Amino acid sequence: MCGIVGYIGQKDSKEILLKGLEKLEYRGYDSAGIATMNQDGVHIFKEKGRIAELRKSVDEKVEASTGIGHTRWATHGVPSQLNAHPHQSTTSRFTIVHNGVIENYAILKREYLQNVELKSDTDTEIIVQVIDKFVNEGLEVEEAFRQTLSILKGSYAIALLDEQNPNMIYVAKNKSPLLVGLGDGSFNVVASDAMAMLQVTDQYVEIMDKEMVFVERETVTIKDLQGNVIERAPYKAEIDSSDIEKGTYPHYMLKEIDEQPLVTRRIIDKYRNDADEITVDSEIVAAVNAADRIYIVAAGTSYHAGLIGKQFIENWAKIPVEVHIASEFSYNMPLLSPNPLFIFISQSGETADSRAVLVQIKELGHKALTITNVQGSTLSREADYTMLLHAGPEIAVASTKAYTAQLAVLSILAAVAAEGKGRSLEFDLTKELGIVANAMEVLCDQKEEMEEIAKEYFATTRNAFFIGRSVDYYVGLEGALKLKEISYIQAEGFAGGELKHGTIALIENGTPIIALSTQEHVNLSIRGNVKEVVARGANPCIISMKGLEEEDDRFILPSVHEQLSPLVAVVPLQLISYYAALHRDCDVDKPRNLAKSVTVE
Ligand code: F6R
Repeated sequence: MCGIVGYIGQKDSKEILLKGLEKLEYRGYDSAGIATMNQDGVHIFKEKGRIAELRKSVDEKVEASTGIGHTRWATHGVPSQLNAHPHQSTTSRFTIVHNGVIENYAILKREYLQNVELKSDTDTEIIVQVIDKFVNEGLEVEEAFRQTLSILKGSYAIALLDEQNPNMIYVAKNKSPLLVGLGDGSFNVVASDAMAMLQVTDQYVEIMDKEMVFVERETVTIKDLQGNVIERAPYKAEIDSSDIEKGTYPHYMLKEIDEQPLVTRRIIDKYRNDADEITVDSEIVAAVNAADRIYIVAAGTSYHAGLIGKQFIENWAKIPVEVHIASEFSYNMPLLSPNPLFIFISQSGETADSRAVLVQIKELGHKALTITNVQGSTLSREADYTMLLHAGPEIAVASTKAYTAQLAVLSILAAVAAEGKGRSLEFDLTKELGIVANAMEVLCDQKEEMEEIAKEYFATTRNAFFIGRSVDYYVGLEGALKLKEISYIQAEGFAGGELKHGTIALIENGTPIIALSTQEHVNLSIRGNVKEVVARGANPCIISMKGLEEEDDRFILPSVHEQLSPLVAVVPLQLISYYAALHRDCDVDKPRNLAKSVTVE
């Protein structure tokens, strides 16, 4: 949700900033801009639209070895060139890029900037204008920066240039992610995500909330808001640069769908000990087994994974589980049990809605486990325990491999918790997950068939329904989300038995109904629901598990252990959505209005 970069060194900064922004484009792509600074002053280039548009507008002749950049997901103010970052103070002395939301911007405007005419509709401009005002009133820049940060309410990751000091980038963060990357002594960088600057360094320093960082060519100084210097060791970003390239794939989404067998096998490996048994950090197992109730909190696709995780944990470990949508949790906080454990599921580890709940439950003194793909992410750092997904960077906005990785990790956690309670599973989870990986591979080899289904059902339709019972219902919710977010077809997931309670009114001649049947105990009932909609003109596409298939089923899934079927059943839904979006000429990896990492509440 907005990405920022910065470079201070000896080389020309333009290309480094632009390449960095291209790697961050998944965080927002409404508009983009860079500001570079040399002896002639600050040069700003910004455009509505993608980085490719920005590239066209950058003047090649302007060379400057200090610069900042931004790719935007609009919060305050429509996507436009005017609202694109960087923003400048009226005197043009200060230039800022910002990721986050300043909640008290209207109050700050009233209190500090009554006579200032703002140039944009953004909350960001307030920050740079207030800093300028404080400096005009006689404060040193560092003090003006500090005082401004201390009156901001909300979230921010900021990089600021002062035209009168080309040797410094002022940086700060609160709630929004930001890292400083260390160069070889001749440069340093700033980025929302280490991926952006892997091109120049893999050494990073974490920045904590309410810290200021003064980034110079050769040094990086971290201070808290009281001005105390903080020492912090750097770490190596363990990202393989080939993981963040598309290679020969036309889209990241397709690459990431294809990576699912590999990721599933990697997860088995990472959570297996020398004796070939599945294992999880003993502190995590103890925390799960000490809990009298588990509260899973997540958003979007991760929430859908949580619904299936609940089945694993309740069926195998017999611990009651509630699953909550993060953004609703605080309004609707459930009555908590005496010994709750919270599990946050988040691909990015940065989702603001989930983080708000984490902060809230930590204040109440409860323990939290984060299941995430990003080591060192905010949700991972702030929880008591972390389990990693080991899925590799997920770049496409639509989550695919992170979802199946979440299911695999949740199954492992549930199995180990069950064992801790003296309830061994009736099957060998490692072996069955291996069979799941093989089945995923078979499905990924059937792309032509998926493309056919996509053309047949989704070429022109306005809407579609995904139905299932039991866990198939939850997989249907995920299938519908995938389809709607990348193809813009109105798609809804429904419990098979629920359609007739109202939604069936929407069924018309030809309405596509994707029905999942992977569970023997509900096979006949879901087929009954299909008959009900077919009688009203629907165009059914039944996807069933081998062993449950019937003559007219459109696609048969390879057989896997029934309880692990969601990991497999989702793959054709991902592929069908992919091809539907492709055929409708949609931007598969960067669907409209979305961003990968949603860091505003
Ligand atoms: C959909 C999708 C989103 C995310 C949601 C939570 O394809 O990716 O629904 O699942 O924004 O994000 P994380 O998992 O990063 O917390």
